[in-house]
Amino acid sequence: MNINQIMVIGAGQMGSGIAQVCAMAGFDVILHDIKEEFIEKGIGNIQKNLNRQVEKGRLEEREKEAILSRVTTSVALENASKADLVIEAVVENMDVKTQLFKMLDQFAPDHAILASNTSSLPITEIAAATERPEKVIGMHFMNPVPVMKLVEIIRGLQTTDEVYETIEAVSKKLSKVPVEVNDFPGFISNRILMPMINEAIFAVYEGVATPEAVDEIMKLGMNHPMGPLTLADFIGLDTCLYIMETLHEGFGDDKYRPCPLLRKYVKAGWLGKKTGKGFYTYA
Ligand code: CAA
Ligand code: NAD
Repeated sequence: MNINQIMVIGAGQMGSGIAQVCAMAGFDVILHDIKEEFIEKGIGNIQKNLNRQVEKGRLEEREKEAILSRVTTSVALENASKADLVIEAVVENMDVKTQLFKMLDQFAPDHAILASNTSSLPITEIAAATERPEKVIGMHFMNPVPVMKLVEIIRGLQTTDEVYETIEAVSKKLSKVPVEVNDFPGFISNRILMPMINEAIFAVYEGVATPEAVDEIMKLGMNHPMGPLTLADFIGLDTCLYIMETLHEGFGDDKYRPCPLLRKYVKAGWLGKKTGKGFYTYA
């Protein structure tokens, strides 16, 4: 299937990164969010990243301008009518995503593939909100998108081979490495990563060590590029909590219960780097 126009829904940290790598690979991109101010922030992120590439001499100014000119913006979901592929990257909430996919199903052309960048939610359930479950798939990018090589591709129960192969080819065109998994809560990435982060939060909650000590141990002892609490702040504590809740509910196993300290921070609005406060404070 030929993909030319990609619509990215949600201009937050993931959506803006996805829009950037799609435009850099030569695709025309529509970046959509609910408010102009969110889109401006997303475009600002893309400009900042591209400026850094220009300063480092890896990108010509005119290439930067060409990439930016391939990104148009939208606050009207009807613009999905122009898309061959929609990649959704809104908040990690099943109700929000199913509502959105219902509407996308109405506006997107019949041939369009609807992909979700969900971290953990069942693709089969998102697909069931549409009349085209065979064209719904998980396309899970890692944060920060311009840097991380992996795209975890999740097949829903009814996803066709043709749709899978198209998304695999698009991922390769984005210079990413696609890895296929089946549809179970948290897939592979977050089934393994998030319980580690949750355990690190329990260690702080129980007073075993400070966040700084936990992070230093995992960085120096296990060669992780970021300690688990720095990484949790980076991902967003709200997203971490929603992923743990999906694992807990999906497997019905108490080993996935979210740490009460994680809940408390999210209730307080301490969502990590994006709000300036989480396990650490950000300027
Ligand atoms: N956006 C774009 N580029 C970024 C960036 C960002 N937010 N942050 C860093 N970079 C780039 C830098 O420009 C630099 O590029 P060059 O090498 O080309 O100059 C490169 O990344 C390295 O950056 P730094 O030297 O500033 O810092 P670093 O060496 O500490 O690397 C990092 C930063 C790549 C983020 C590294 O700390 C890292 O790999 N951290 C772990 C990230 C991770 O685990 N991500 C997965 C999260 S889980 C997930 O995404 C799934 C989910 O569903 C929750
Ligand atoms: P974010 O909070 O940075 O951005 C979410 C964006 O979606 C916001 O700009 C918000 O205005 C917009 N939005 C919310 N509802 C919308 C709607 N109905 N229509 C259009 N836009 C809407 O979140 P994020 O960290 O970018 O995460 C987005 C998705 O990507 C989540 O599903 C998350 O689980 C997943 N994900 C996150 C990470 C991570 O490290 N943060 C990694 C991989 C996947």
